[in-house]
Amino acid sequence: MCPEKKIMSDRLKHLDKQILSIEPLIMIGDAVGLHPSHRLFSYADRISDELSKRPNTMLQYSPANILNAMMEGRAVLSTDLDSNELLGFAQLWKYGVTSNKKDIYEFGSWLSFAKGSGRRVLTAGTLLGSQIDSSAQVIAIVEHSNVRAQTTIKSTGGIFITSAISEKLVTSEGLPAPIKIYDVSKRQ
Ligand SMILES: CC(C)(COP(=O)(O)OP(=O)(O)OC[C@H]1O[C@@H](n2cnc3c(N)ncnc32)[C@H](O)[C@@H]1OP(=O)(O)O)[C@@H](O)C(=O)NCCC(=O)NCCS
Repeated sequence: MCPEKKIMSDRLKHLDKQILSIEPLIMIGDAVGLHPSHRLFSYADRISDELSKRPNTMLQYSPANILNAMMEGRAVLSTDLDSNELLGFAQLWKYGVTSNKKDIYEFGSWLSFAKGSGRRVLTAGTLLGSQIDSSAQVIAIVEHSNVRAQTTIKSTGGIFITSAISEKLVTSEGLPAPIKIYDVSKRQ
């Protein structure tokens, strides 16, 4: 096989692992970039807009920030294969390091646009985390009052780590929000 073909076939094999499901279409990491760019722009707009409806409880990202996460291979995207409708999204970003110097990634901007997509995107995000760095810890930070998110996290094997007061998120009264942190790395 000529070198170009070999590179292409290796890349496709690599991307193949990042298309987790066809219907709905779930793509993680580099595979997200297989969508045509005009569609990615429109998804990024919709995601940013959805975040802006939750200014207190979710960190805000512009469409350009969201697009960056997609192009950097840090995003998980679920869409309908036929209609291309956006079903779910999440991004991973470097959050910090553990006491034994392992990287921590936060699974954030977690959005479901269709019931059931939240769980699929969470599972895909966990897998993406382990592909980026198999020794890293993946965490999810959730407001105390976000029962829906916590139910989904717990039902997929997420482990409660601690409660804290957020430095960034605030309650609807404008006070620092109580949050819960879960380990969603799902290591065996
Ligand atoms: C948190 C969030 C991402 C969870 O996503 P979700 O799609 O609602 O969650 P799930 O995948 O667990 O599905 C929810 C329910 O729909 C059910 N469901 C799954 N597929 C379904 C389908 N095709 N039709 C109807 N219901 C379905 C699930 O069984 C589950 O029901 P249950 O509560 O009885 O178990 C979503 O609620 C959301 O976008 N919230 C706003 C943003 C937010 O709070 N993000 C998290 C910040 S940390």
